[in-house]
Amino acid sequence: NWTMSEFIGKEIDRIRAIVGEKGQVIGAVSGGVDSSVAAKLMHMAIGDRFHGILVDNGVMRHNECAQAKKMLVDKMGINLKIADASERFLANLAGKTDPEQKRKIIGNTFIDVFEEEAKAIDDACAASGGHPVEFLLQGTLYPDVIESISFKGPSATIKTHHNVGGLKENMKLKLIEPLRELFKDEVRELGKLLGMDDELVWRHPFPGPGIAIRILGEVTKEQVAIARKADYIYIEEIKKAGLYRQIAQAYAALLPVKAVGVKGDKRTYEQMICLRAVETSDFMTADWFPFPYDVLKRISSRICNEVEGVNRVVYDVSSKPPATIELE
Ligand code: XMP
Repeated sequence: NWTMSEFIGKEIDRIRAIVGEKGQVIGAVSGGVDSSVAAKLMHMAIGDRFHGILVDNGVMRHNECAQAKKMLVDKMGINLKIADASERFLANLAGKTDPEQKRKIIGNTFIDVFEEEAKAIDDACAASGGHPVEFLLQGTLYPDVIESISFKGPSATIKTHHNVGGLKENMKLKLIEPLRELFKDEVRELGKLLGMDDELVWRHPFPGPGIAIRILGEVTKEQVAIARKADYIYIEEIKKAGLYRQIAQAYAALLPVKAVGVKGDKRTYEQMICLRAVETSDFMTADWFPFPYDVLKRISSRICNEVEGVNRVVYDVSSKPPATIELE
């Protein structure tokens, strides 16, 4: 029976007691609300002895990495290392089309990169006569805790999940999970109390494997660029229409099938963008969002006009189940 502001003070005390006067903590951050709130609490508790690591996996959204840096470093003062591993992820994904294989490649590459960065931080701490890194911050929420101990939700058994929390046990680090008793709406409340922008607090969830699972088939630099641009336009128009908060999650996916079209007086033979937007409270079931037609019209015409390589836009009117929220 605590209020959120009491929670902040108590959690900071708890973190200090666990980490001690000299302990060092690492943790992956993504720019999403959970990992940002967790990082902020950690920074308030132990300052620069918390080392955040942001892995650029090459399949983040338009400008996402730069924006995350701006927020985490410039606004929140987090001691952050950005590991640009985009080429490495894309090289590992080359030629791969199976959804589960794509997920596993991204998950494993993430772990490899994170461990290398963690080791570099550990070495630097040792070199400067500091303590070794003993702790790992994870932004696990209560529903994740429940899901992993008592039952597996449908998504977890159907798709190999990967997120910034999903690291190997064999890292031999002690876990710190400041959000493990909170639900998502409580994390948002906490974010607000900690002075975070609405933009961050109300951000839709974004999957660890990023837009790689929103590009059917092979993920190439060119395909990523197309999906990114379409998604950016889509979300921008949703925000302009004032619908962002009503939608639980929205994204534009790239379907690598070609259809004939016409631009100017020229025949085109180009790919398709599939828009998805859902309403849901728990992400276990979901309904497609009933967009006003004029909004869809604007989005479609902007994407067809502005995104090279695309001549058609379709809207996904499938509920979960039987569809899932993501395409892969
Ligand atoms: P599905 O597609 O299973 O998605 O209906 C349910 C919710 O989970 C998100 N999702 C993920 N989140 N790592 C994540 O952190 C993942 O690997 C992953 N796969 C799906 C999805 O975006 C939706 O919110």
